[in-house]
Amino acid sequence: RHILAKELPDAQVIVVSNREPYIHNRNGDEIQLVVPASGLVSALEPITRACAGTWIAYGGGSADPLVVDENDRVEVPPENPSYTLRRVWLSEEELQGYYLGFANEGLWPLCHIAFTRPIFRASDWEAYEAVNRKFADTVVAEARNERPIVLVQDYHFALLPRMIRERLPEAIIITFWHIPWPNSEVFSICPWREKILEGLLGSSIVGFHTQFHCNNFIDSVDRFLESRIEREDSAISYGGQISLVHAYPISIEWEPPRLSKLPAVAECRRLIRDKFGFAENVRLCVGVERLDYTKGILDRLNALDELLTLHPEWIGKVAFLQVAAPSRGTLPAYQQLYEECLRHAEDINQRHGREGYTPVVLVTEHHSQAQVYEIYRAADVCMVTSLHDGMNLVAKEFVAAREDEQGVLLLSMFAGASKELLEALIVNPYDAAMMGDALLQALTMSPEEQSQRMRRMREVVRENNVYRWAGSMLFDAARLRKRDAVDRAV
Ligand code: G6P
Repeated sequence: RHILAKELPDAQVIVVSNREPYIHNRNGDEIQLVVPASGLVSALEPITRACAGTWIAYGGGSADPLVVDENDRVEVPPENPSYTLRRVWLSEEELQGYYLGFANEGLWPLCHIAFTRPIFRASDWEAYEAVNRKFADTVVAEARNERPIVLVQDYHFALLPRMIRERLPEAIIITFWHIPWPNSEVFSICPWREKILEGLLGSSIVGFHTQFHCNNFIDSVDRFLESRIEREDSAISYGGQISLVHAYPISIEWEPPRLSKLPAVAECRRLIRDKFGFAENVRLCVGVERLDYTKGILDRLNALDELLTLHPEWIGKVAFLQVAAPSRGTLPAYQQLYEECLRHAEDINQRHGREGYTPVVLVTEHHSQAQVYEIYRAADVCMVTSLHDGMNLVAKEFVAAREDEQGVLLLSMFAGASKELLEALIVNPYDAAMMGDALLQALTMSPEEQSQRMRRMREVVRENNVYRWAGSMLFDAARLRKRDAVDRAV
């Protein structure tokens, strides 16, 4: 807010994402409010609150249409309204083609190295283009003047920056790609690769979590578009527009506001063991995420299996709680993953379980942020073993939840978070032996060592919090605007 007031006075902030920050669902006669499981939502929400902005998103909740005004707007959060949520309605067909199809069967597997084949259909592409246009219309309708700051989020909207640029040439458009960007050879698979790059280069700034993904993006532009690339400044000139390509590692709010309302760590340990049927003295490993094939859930189950097989003395003493929020469940790849997880968990439980001891508990339900934080606080080990991940905010949330400085983070080297949280036990999720060893190391780590590692990681997250993430993007945007003003004056 400070940077906005000082560097970009009177600027209107408009956030665009597919997923809405609050979903209103019907529950009998009542309206139930759900905060979706999405790293993007947890990062953007505090920022939008602080800027009193407008957030444009797809309204997918069964009661969403009941709570909006005649302009499809509603003020949120309900308990303390601080910004406007503007909903965009999509038909089943649009959703199928744009969201499930092009975004989640095409771009999602294309950008993550998880060896799930991307599927590209011309009909999905058409829907993707049409929905991007629909969102562009909404941005233009919501803009109060010619020069808003538009924060475009993620792979659902690769075409949107250029569509906005054509209609609001003076807007500051900051596009943040929350998932990895593949190397140019992998990217070349996409039949509409030039269109995607041209779309993104309508932005003033294109942001990724890591420099590595920025480099991959610049290489892709270099290979497929006639453009001028200034590698030193990470700037690309294309069609008369300059776009900066920078790394901005996303983060969380420090301290998470819900923390002060949670029971003490000892109480959370007791509550969670009780709730999920674990013995009081069992060492608890947890995994928390959407049920997604990029997250390495099966690999984590393998690690536990490896540990219990090689070190049977741990049978009865360690258990694993996996909370996996259902996601994109109508897609075959997700259904298959769900079945495999169930089978694998059952198999481990059969082979290593005993009377009164179930090694793996798998819960495929949505959990509120408060419930998730209780689980973090109850854990001895948190396993973030993504096969590939832009950042992964679960790793940062776990660290933030542990003011007792206890608990060990097992973190995949293929998650962006591993570039910052160096004191985690960094693992290769594809290496079952390494994962098993790391799990054993985590379970036997002294409280002093846990505390040293945790303290350092907490400093990093406190320092590089989500306000810094947004602040550095806005700061760069302000620099660009000043440069534009100078260019216009000469
Ligand atoms: C990832 C994506 C987000 C998305 C979230 C949840 O974090 O980068 O854009 O919102 O997953 O997925 P969903 O498809 O349920 O929105």
